[in-house]
Amino acid sequence: ELKDNTIIIVFGASGDLAKKKTLPALFGLFRQGFLPRDTHIVGYARTKMDQAEFEKRATSNIKGADDPETANQIEAFKQRLSYVSGGYEDGESFDKLNAHLQEIESHYQSKECNRIFYLALPPTVFIPVSQHIKEHCYVSKGGVNRIIIEKPFGKDLESARHLLSSVKQYWTEDETFRIDHYLGKEMVKNLLVLRFANVALGACWDKNYISNVQITFKEPFGTEGRGGYFDEFGMIRDVIQNHLLQVLTILTMERPVSFAAEDIRDEKVKVLRSIPPVEKEDCLLGQYVSANGKPGYLDDNTVPPNSVCPTYAATTLWIHNPRWEGVPFILKAGKALNEAKVEVRIQFKDVTQGIFKDIARNELVIRIQPSEAVYLKMNAKTPGLYTRAIPTEMDLTYKRRFTEAKIPEAYESLILDTLRGDHSNFVRHDELDYAWKIFTPILHWIDGKNGQRPKPSPYPYGSRGPKELDGFIKKYGYKRADDA
Ligand code: BG6
Repeated sequence: ELKDNTIIIVFGASGDLAKKKTLPALFGLFRQGFLPRDTHIVGYARTKMDQAEFEKRATSNIKGADDPETANQIEAFKQRLSYVSGGYEDGESFDKLNAHLQEIESHYQSKECNRIFYLALPPTVFIPVSQHIKEHCYVSKGGVNRIIIEKPFGKDLESARHLLSSVKQYWTEDETFRIDHYLGKEMVKNLLVLRFANVALGACWDKNYISNVQITFKEPFGTEGRGGYFDEFGMIRDVIQNHLLQVLTILTMERPVSFAAEDIRDEKVKVLRSIPPVEKEDCLLGQYVSANGKPGYLDDNTVPPNSVCPTYAATTLWIHNPRWEGVPFILKAGKALNEAKVEVRIQFKDVTQGIFKDIARNELVIRIQPSEAVYLKMNAKTPGLYTRAIPTEMDLTYKRRFTEAKIPEAYESLILDTLRGDHSNFVRHDELDYAWKIFTPILHWIDGKNGQRPKPSPYPYGSRGPKELDGFIKKYGYKRADDA
């Protein structure tokens, strides 16, 4: 764990990700006393800005700034900030940055200094930036260097391999922290505990008891202004191939030998290797159209006219191993839907017929956001002088059960892991390779690599998704409580 003399350099400091996530997370760690003593945070981007402007931008997304205590902490945080502007592709700019870092370090007592480089940048500059940092800003004596990068890690297997091997020329696997921010979410981290600390759950965690699993991501807003980026990627690349697949691997992997990063990632990789590429028949695509006064995807003027990019996708994955053979895992995600929700829904099999008929199935739901919860849908006797079973819930809603607890932000948790040098919640290179193998053929088909691009099914802004959705899920054996 890094104790002191640490500089965190945020590249792309004038951008959205830094403003909305990285810098507020650094503030969160700072106020809770988790940053190493005397940590400095250096913002770096092309935009020219003076110190005051950067301080303002860096703290503009901090919640509760009108509370006097928070306001004081913000002032103290500002003392830790500085900003350097420069390009991403020329060595001189990085020399200038290095001079700035050395100046800060000259005030540190000990000579051993650590540098954490956070790339909140578009993928087009990942490679030159990682090269220039290594060549111009790497501390060679004493302290550690770490680099944090974020998706998109390429667009398919080939481009991901190119990106990874290019960065690997300069940075070792040990120094590299590939973020998938879903791995920092409290309820995703909770999966390990739910599964392996509860004998009752562990005992029915397989094809003998589970009928089907859905991992669902719903957002109530469209691409609004971000269409240019989104159109190049589409819904599968944006959240399914990474965030939802990560959730799936933790949900289905065998118990790791220990909590050590390599033990966990070895098990995740084994599951990924057991999943064949997604078939066309197991894929449903949609695109939102204007409704209720809200614009359609094609009305976003950053989107190319007539784009057939999917803003909704459902893909069913199969795991060929003894635990999961035959269980469908439906990963579905969409923009401009009726609600904001990310959840895992595990539907168990029917009870054997006999004394009860037409009874609802058990379902275990893990709600990742909003309002974190775990609940088990189960049948119970209605109170009264007769025996009738009705569906009810055993409900662990975090807000009610842990009233005092503050649920950490995913980025706080992951930046802290980086400072601690813990890779458990970061994506290993081979994990990424197998993840791309599962999705590359279907993505190439969607991209029209070998023929016409498939047309997504239209769905109204604010709806549940394409009209084919219910039929799609039913095909895999999902039974709604009312069709029991
Ligand atoms: C990002 C996607 O990775 O995750 C966005 O690019 C998406 O499109 C976001 O909105 C969702 O993250 P969260 O934490 O809000 O669920």
